[in-house]
Amino acid sequence: MRYSFLETVTLAALAGLSSAQELSSTIVGCADVRCPNLEDSTDNVCTLVNRTFGDIGLARIPTDMAELSWVRGNNITDDEGERRITSSFYLGAPFELDTGDTRACAAFFHQSTARFPGDHVDTAQGTCEQAGVDSACLDALVARARALRVENGEDACEKLQEDFLDNLDRECRGLAGTDRWESVRVRPIFGPGAPDVILSSDNLTSNCWPIEPKEHDLAFIESHEATARNLTAARTNDLFYDVTPILTVFYGAENGLVANFSSQMTCLKIVNSSVTLDAILAEQREEEEGAAAAIHVSGAMAAITGVVTVFSLLLLSTTDRVVSEEPMAWPYQFLDLDQAAKQSRRQALNYYGAGTYLVRRSRRDRTSYVAVPGSPFLKQQRQNVLGTWSATTRSAVWWLGDEVTFFGQNWGQRGELVFGSLWAVWLLSLCVIGTGNDYLHLTKRFGIVAVSQLPIQYVLALKKFNPVALIFHSSHEGVNRWHRVLGRVIYYLMCLHAAFYLNYYYQMGILGRRIIDIVPALGLTAFIGMVLLNTTTLSVIRRYSYRIFFTTHLLVALALPPIIFFHHRSSIFYVVEALSLFTIDLALRKMDTFTTDASLIPIPGSNLIKIVAPVPPQKISRFRESPGTHVYLSIPASSRPSPSTVSAAHYIFEFMFNPFTIASVDERSTDLTLIVRCRNGPMTQNLTRLANGSTAGMKVPLSIEGPYGCAARFPNFAGPEFDQVLLVAGGVGASFILPVYRSVLGENQGATVTVVWAVRSASDATWPASDAAQSILEDDRVQLYLTGDIIESTSGTGTLSGGDAEHEMVHLSQRQPKYSPDRSRRRPDLRKIVDDVFKHGVEERVAVLVCGPEGMAHELRRYVGTWVRKGRKVWWHNESFGW
Ligand SMILES: Cc1cc2nc3c(=O)[nH]c(=O)nc-3n(C[C@H](O)[C@H](O)[C@H](O)COP(=O)(O)OP(=O)(O)OC[C@H]3O[C@@H](n4cnc5c(N)ncnc54)[C@H](O)[C@@H]3O)c2cc1C
Ligand SMILES: NC(=O)c1ccc[n+]([C@@H]2O[C@H](COP(=O)([O-])OP(=O)(O)OC[C@H]3O[C@@H](n4cnc5c(N)ncnc54)[C@H](OP(=O)(O)O)[C@@H]3O)[C@@H](O)[C@H]2O)c1
Repeated sequence: MRYSFLETVTLAALAGLSSAQELSSTIVGCADVRCPNLEDSTDNVCTLVNRTFGDIGLARIPTDMAELSWVRGNNITDDEGERRITSSFYLGAPFELDTGDTRACAAFFHQSTARFPGDHVDTAQGTCEQAGVDSACLDALVARARALRVENGEDACEKLQEDFLDNLDRECRGLAGTDRWESVRVRPIFGPGAPDVILSSDNLTSNCWPIEPKEHDLAFIESHEATARNLTAARTNDLFYDVTPILTVFYGAENGLVANFSSQMTCLKIVNSSVTLDAILAEQREEEEGAAAAIHVSGAMAAITGVVTVFSLLLLSTTDRVVSEEPMAWPYQFLDLDQAAKQSRRQALNYYGAGTYLVRRSRRDRTSYVAVPGSPFLKQQRQNVLGTWSATTRSAVWWLGDEVTFFGQNWGQRGELVFGSLWAVWLLSLCVIGTGNDYLHLTKRFGIVAVSQLPIQYVLALKKFNPVALIFHSSHEGVNRWHRVLGRVIYYLMCLHAAFYLNYYYQMGILGRRIIDIVPALGLTAFIGMVLLNTTTLSVIRRYSYRIFFTTHLLVALALPPIIFFHHRSSIFYVVEALSLFTIDLALRKMDTFTTDASLIPIPGSNLIKIVAPVPPQKISRFRESPGTHVYLSIPASSRPSPSTVSAAHYIFEFMFNPFTIASVDERSTDLTLIVRCRNGPMTQNLTRLANGSTAGMKVPLSIEGPYGCAARFPNFAGPEFDQVLLVAGGVGASFILPVYRSVLGENQGATVTVVWAVRSASDATWPASDAAQSILEDDRVQLYLTGDIIESTSGTGTLSGGDAEHEMVHLSQRQPKYSPDRSRRRPDLRKIVDDVFKHGVEERVAVLVCGPEGMAHELRRYVGTWVRKGRKVWWHNESFGW
């Protein structure tokens, strides 16, 4: 059963106001005792210690001695064609009840013929008389209990059971339905052998305490199983909602609840209580439905809502408004399932949610790099069938690696779309298979299958501790691409889940009230979170403010698992897994971040800042290991523009971690160098402020996390696998390209490497010159292109500091570019550069790496692609995380 907050409060108030003795009817179900309802309005799932019930029934024992109740919970399981209905019986009693020397037993007359009148077996209820328990039979049963003589040491209840089993009174034949009691159990409830009440420590994992008032204790008394094969729905319902007469007998004791023998008969069954709840709250809901809430949605959200609405309209036009089993054009129907069918649906939901994992584990490493064999072998291979086949494969792989732009938005590489679509089709099939024509099953499947993807989705986003990256020998950046793909798939599945549910509520005429019930409201909250999350990933928003994207992503990612858990508790495995990995990663990242006193040096004549930051000695080896990796820079409180900890300007830095490539790591000291292009954003603006505000030699605290990046997984470019290496940099992109270049030369001085570096002004290329030992400016292998106006070279935020830098700038502005096709164009002619590299030797294997503006990388890829389609072997990397 599900309640809105208002309903919960109302019910609590009703429970408090009413006399504790009173129930709204003779037997009540989940609604009246406030059991949880975790899935939908038709499920009343209650877990008590280790037993889960599809619904419950509660009846007071008609006695004045104390407020005692019988509670029954039923559960259905299907096992290899056999259906088992298990009934559990509990005694409810006030927690302070002192039973003294009372001895009491309860006789359960299972499988009797007792039945309440009426067609609706699930909601039917009444007194024992109405259930057909003849008063003469009752007298006979009571007479036996009263006449029982118990010797010292004998178990009264056991003895009474024997008596009943051995003797069926004539008056009770109708009730027994046979010529002997088939299934009578007599259990002690007070006195020797009586079970203990359930302690709160036993009940930690329960979600339900099916008794009113809630302070009452419950003790487990009896369990009964009915099993059968090939049960029809109607027969299952009969068994699930059958009536069990319970004779409770109290043997008088001087110091007990009763001085003399006393007995009461209670006829107990499960009650489908959602109907009762509806009756209680109908009046209140009528008022609520009058009030409509206005929801303001963003443009993108409106678009998505539009899609969802269109989908709903589609369903609306094909789905009946009433619960019906008539065939419709649309195969799915709103079915009124019996308990067994609901339970089997629940099992199917768990199975298909978990099913996605089996396949995920068998995915192949897409990033593994196969070393190319030696040249003579390669030549021979290229000329045979195998060679043709592998050239075609390379061409196809290249095609899959092309970026796809659609509606001005980069949708990622073609391969991501292809494999993402295949995965989506697989998940969609999991959403549909085995749902029959059960509309709600289909609806729930979309939800559970989407949620089942959350752990892997969170794993794909992890930076520090990423098991997927470890398994596939990839990097955070490599797997993060798949995070974006899977994110879209999950989002679309959740949209369908929400659309289907909204349609269901609308068709059933309960949209207004369901939308404010806790569980659907949580689902809607999660869905709105997903809409926000996906909307803010749009490039137009990311470029407008990276902070909006980042904070929304972080907050929704943290809030989503608990919201989903409370929306659908069976998702616990997925959400706990997702949240745990996410928080572990956040903690590890926090632990690995260090704050250091850095020097911020403006590069004369440019808007570049050189940051020199000492790294703790114990961490330095990780920074030296791989050239071209990057760190995340954040601004600690003491370096923020606003000292006030309550101001937004201060707080915004808590959500700022900007990536910058490690341009160099000093061989002698533990200093690392970053080169930062100052732009309009808060991080680089603040770095400019700090650099301009600091005097020579002054240090500024900065926080650094890392290193990260694909570079850590690069093959050895200086090794025999490569004949040529082409490195292309645009502007500050050289902070990535130059360390790679230095590393190749460090491994193999004779390596054939070509470096192309385009800069707008000479001053943009002066930063590597300060380290004479590493100066690349005199290197013939480095082709420098000054694309801007040389006169503008001295403009910029930095100031000239003279010395080496000034000298290099003059030198650079005088250097002639190697390729200058015409006077109007000073950019490097990338086509010619590529052709020259590839024409060199037809069997040569070439590594091409680029880091620079998007247009530069796209152009370069186009030219290299021509050679790949000719069958050339190319190892390609574009160090750009723009998306
Ligand atoms: C791996 C990598 C390495 C880089 N190396 C350098 C470098 O060596 N020198 C340099 O000048 N620039 C580098 N950049 C670009 C640099 O990160 C941005 O120019 C800088 O963060 C802009 O900060 P801002 O305060 O001006 O604007 P912001 O509004 O903070 O960010 C502007 C843009 O920077 C990027 N960005 C910011 N934070 C992140 C983040 N946490 N993760 C991914 N992208 C983010 C986004 O594209 C964003 O739209 C690199 C970018 C990446 C992805
Ligand atoms: N690890 C990383 O991912 C990483 C690291 C550092 C930088 N970056 C990125 O690298 C880019 C460079 O930034 P920047 O501001 O320093 O660049 P910039 O000052 O704009 O310089 C880019 C240079 O490349 C030239 N260029 C652009 N497109 C070209 C093309 N198609 N063919 C040939 N030359 C071309 C430009 O020529 P014109 O003057 O004619 O335009 C200019 O000389 C940024 O996008 C930055 O985010 C990424």
